[in-house]
Amino acid sequence: MTHMTLNPGEKIASVAKLWTSALLVQSCRSTVFAFTLIASTLASTAAEPQIQITIQADQPGAKINPAMWGVFFEDINFGADGGLYAELVKNRSFEFPEALMGWKVSDQTKASIQSEKPFSEAQPHFIRLSSAAGIVNEGFRGMGVRNDETYNFSTQARVVEGKPVLRIDLIGAGGQSIGSAEIKRFGSDWKQHTAKLRPSMTEPKAQLQVTVEGGTLDLDMISLFPKKTWKNRPNGLRADMVQILADLKPGFLRFPGGCIVEGRVLTNRYEWKNTIGDVEDRKLIMNRWNVEFANRGRGAKDYYQSFGLGFFEYFQLCEDIGAQPLPILNCGMACQYNSGELVPLDQLDPYIQDALDLIEFANGSPKSKWGSVRAAMGHPKPFNMKLLGVGNEQWGQQYVDRYALFAKVLKAKHPEIELVAAAGPDPSGERFDFLWAKLRELNADIVDEHFYRPPDWFFSNVNRYDKYDRSGPKVFAGEYASHVRSRANNLEAAISEAAVMTGFERNADIVRMAAYAPLFAHIDAWQWNPDLIWVDNLRVMGTPSYYVQQLFSRNRGDAVLPIETQAPTGARFYASAVRDSKVNEVIVKVVNATTNSVDASINLGGVRKVSAGKLTLLTGENLNAQNTLDNPKQVSPVTQKLEVRSATFSHSFPANSVSVLRIPAK
Ligand code: AHR
Repeated sequence: MTHMTLNPGEKIASVAKLWTSALLVQSCRSTVFAFTLIASTLASTAAEPQIQITIQADQPGAKINPAMWGVFFEDINFGADGGLYAELVKNRSFEFPEALMGWKVSDQTKASIQSEKPFSEAQPHFIRLSSAAGIVNEGFRGMGVRNDETYNFSTQARVVEGKPVLRIDLIGAGGQSIGSAEIKRFGSDWKQHTAKLRPSMTEPKAQLQVTVEGGTLDLDMISLFPKKTWKNRPNGLRADMVQILADLKPGFLRFPGGCIVEGRVLTNRYEWKNTIGDVEDRKLIMNRWNVEFANRGRGAKDYYQSFGLGFFEYFQLCEDIGAQPLPILNCGMACQYNSGELVPLDQLDPYIQDALDLIEFANGSPKSKWGSVRAAMGHPKPFNMKLLGVGNEQWGQQYVDRYALFAKVLKAKHPEIELVAAAGPDPSGERFDFLWAKLRELNADIVDEHFYRPPDWFFSNVNRYDKYDRSGPKVFAGEYASHVRSRANNLEAAISEAAVMTGFERNADIVRMAAYAPLFAHIDAWQWNPDLIWVDNLRVMGTPSYYVQQLFSRNRGDAVLPIETQAPTGARFYASAVRDSKVNEVIVKVVNATTNSVDASINLGGVRKVSAGKLTLLTGENLNAQNTLDNPKQVSPVTQKLEVRSATFSHSFPANSVSVLRIPAK
């Protein structure tokens, strides 16, 4: 057996520490206690593993929610427009308040914004171009195009005069055309026209130019999509971004926010009904992250929500990747960090009706009012929604009052839907305690806790849920991320998240669900960091935190196993265990957040027979190790065979690592 790799000086100090210290026993659920190290154990310090992990493999405890590990999507950091939503043209409908934002016009005298008889009431503005005017769209920090792929161009158009021809060019970073097409026949009524472009080169920062010759044309909804979207759907999602989500095998997908739900003022809130039906009929609004961090230099004047990725696409995405939908709705409160605007309690009905209608849209019969809208959009079958969030990060009595009204109606009409209630923006303090007490009284189903905190907080909260009252609401760790001082997405952050996640797992009887936040960030257009996944116009990259999420979600098991971890007091070493009864495996997750490799003895109690298993290890050169878009797998899990010959075995856990051991056990 080997032991902690320490230099001689450290060894003496370590032994002395062990003499005087206690062993911390971290057990399943609530038992965290210390006991004095006895001399005989100490005598063997030099030869024995310093950490003992005891798992009662034959005593499965709480069932693990199959949807426990999920994701939280919000249109922040260009997550939807400019991200997951594959549209490449920014401000395609000239509805930004600065109607030509994102566009460059070659000749101002031949281009004008008009609003007479638009093709859709939701898109009241359009552009009129006369021969030989051209306009160029810059995309969302450029447009990523690949030379071996097809791009679908479309536009609404009508002739004003002459016999105009529309030329379409993809422009490379050097200003040259890298792909072109022409549309010749237009009529005097609005109609959608299409063309295909095949770029001659791959270009992460292309632009789109449209030029009118031989007449005057009105144009609107000028759009360019890769043909290869997720499942090749028109108006679809970026395939690589969905794939990296699908690779997480998320149990649920919380959507659309986040603060986005609340709005800075109520008129800026997210209204799901404005995000369904024909995409041309979806009215654009300003994205709150446009201005939120402008004072920190992280505003984005060109950040709007087109809702091309709306609630239908959201439910469809959930279905595609096997995630339960968890929509969050505004509860009659604008963001309390901003206006804090409130809908008076006697005027809350339309908000509650929105919730009822959403349930009908998701689950109702195709003959029902909202179910028929879903069916008309191509999905007659229900989406099987079981969860609904009332408000995002609300706090105070105002929230309790509004939640109570929502809950009264929703529980009466839809007892099958579990409601997620807010616990405010912080994981402790007056607001948090107040809400928990009130939500307990109201018999809430699930309470959503948020924690953006430094690694130390994560380590000291590993046992947070051990002591939670089991008789009250369940917990949803709905938004969390470890924030190192530099806000880097590094190994240190990821390891501290993994540590707390072992605590979630040991307490899976009360912690029903958990999600990191935020999910996506565009490398050239982010407002908030750290984030789980970074993208540019052509690439995606999972952070070390992403791989931690993946280690847990792909090794979720179905029942918690009792575990005791005996480690020297203060040692940042954590473990949890579950059983996967489908394949008869014990899954042990171990976080060694110490700077030394640690040898542990693992005992699988109640096991008669074991066989070779699998070890998946996530570690890096140092705590600041990170992934980049050029080197996306620098910190990523490595899997190897795990030799296990008996129910008690030893294993060496490298410094700063997260390990998942899967052991076939009978
Ligand atoms: O995840 C980013 C933001 O953090 C969310 O919008 C909000 O809920 C929280 O404050």
